[in-house]
Amino acid sequence: MTAQLRMDALPPAGWPALAPFLFASNRLDGDVRCLHSHTGEDAAAYAEELRSLPVGEACYVAARDGDVLVGVAGAEFDVSLGRAWLRGPLVAPGREFRAIAAALLDALCARLPPAVVQYAVFVTAGCAEAIGFYLGRGFDLHASYGAYTALRAAPPAEGPPPGERLAAAEPCWRAVIGALHEAEFSGGYVTLDGLFEADTEDRMTRIALLDGEPCGYVRVHFDAHWHEGYVDFLAVAPAARRRGVGRALLRSALAWSFARPGAGAATLTVRDDRDAARALYKAAGFRRVRTCIGLRRTVTR
Ligand SMILES: CC(C)(COP(=O)(O)OP(=O)(O)OC[C@H]1O[C@@H](n2cnc3c(N)ncnc32)[C@H](O)[C@@H]1OP(=O)(O)O)[C@@H](O)C(=O)NCCC(=O)NCCS
Repeated sequence: MTAQLRMDALPPAGWPALAPFLFASNRLDGDVRCLHSHTGEDAAAYAEELRSLPVGEACYVAARDGDVLVGVAGAEFDVSLGRAWLRGPLVAPGREFRAIAAALLDALCARLPPAVVQYAVFVTAGCAEAIGFYLGRGFDLHASYGAYTALRAAPPAEGPPPGERLAAAEPCWRAVIGALHEAEFSGGYVTLDGLFEADTEDRMTRIALLDGEPCGYVRVHFDAHWHEGYVDFLAVAPAARRRGVGRALLRSALAWSFARPGAGAATLTVRDDRDAARALYKAAGFRRVRTCIGLRRTVTR
C-alpha cells in the first residue's frame, strides 16, 4: 500500500484545505494527539490558523494514495533560532501509521531550511503511537508538562510585597534578567532581545523590582486565535523567592490578559518537575487540563 504513496509539498494557498483532515485525524479519546497541530475547536478554526501562518515560516507536506489524502505533516520554523516545531505526522485512521508517518517526516525535514537543526514535538501523554514513533526516529524525551487554564475569575486583590514594584523592561536590567532567563529557560523560544522588545497590544514583559533591583520577570502574549492570554515565561531570582514576587508578576499577566478584548481564559504549560510553579498556578486558580510530552532532536546538516 505504501509503495503507491505520493508526497506533495503544498504551497501556502493549499494549507487551509487540509483543515478538515487535520482536525479529524488529530482526535484521540476525547482529546487531541499533536498540540502543535491543535489550533482550534473545529475545522474552521484550524483553517483560519492555517491561513494566518507566515509563508516563509511554515511548511506542509501531504501523503496521497492515488487521489486519497492519507497523511499530513507540517512545521512552523524560526531560522534565526534554528528550530522547527513539528506538526503531526497525522495519518488517516485505518492506514498504516508508522510507514506513512516515516515517509512524511522524511519529506518534511528535507524541505525545511538548512539552518533549522532542532526539531521539537509536543504531543498529549496518551498518544503512545506518536511518542513511540518519534523515539524510534532518534528523538529524545525532553520533559513532561502540564497544560493549565484559568478562567476569568481573577485571584483576590492584594498589594505587592513591601519594597516591590513592577515595571516595563528597561535596557539597564538586561544583564540580570538575561542571566535569570538563561538559568531557567536556556534555549527558550523567546530570546533576551525578544523579552526586551517594547510592549505591544498583544505581548507584554514586566520586570519585578525589589528595593529598585530587578529580581524577576514575566512575559505574556495574547493569542488572538484562541482568545487567550498565554504566560510564556515567569521566573524569580532564587534569593527573592517566597516573598510574593511570583504571585504579583502572575497577577499582572492575568490582569493584562483579561483586559484584552474577547479574552476568555489564560493558559500556560509548565514542566512537571517545577513544583513551586505548579503550586503558584494552582493557588492562583489555574486548573490542569492535560499532560503533554515534549520530544526533541538535533540534527547535523
Ligand atoms: C515559580 C516561581 C516563579 C515562584 O516565585 P516566588 O516569588 O517564589 O512565588 P511567591 O512567593 O509569589 O509564591 C506564591 C505562592 O506560590 C506557591 N509557592 C511558591 N513557591 C513555592 C514552593 N517552593 N513550594 C510550595 N509552594 C510554593 C505558594 O502557594 C505561594 O504562596 P505562599 O508563599 O503564601 O505559601 C519561582 O519559584 C521560580 O522562579 N521558579 C523557577 C522558574 C519557574 O519554574 N518558572 C515557572 C515556569 S512556567
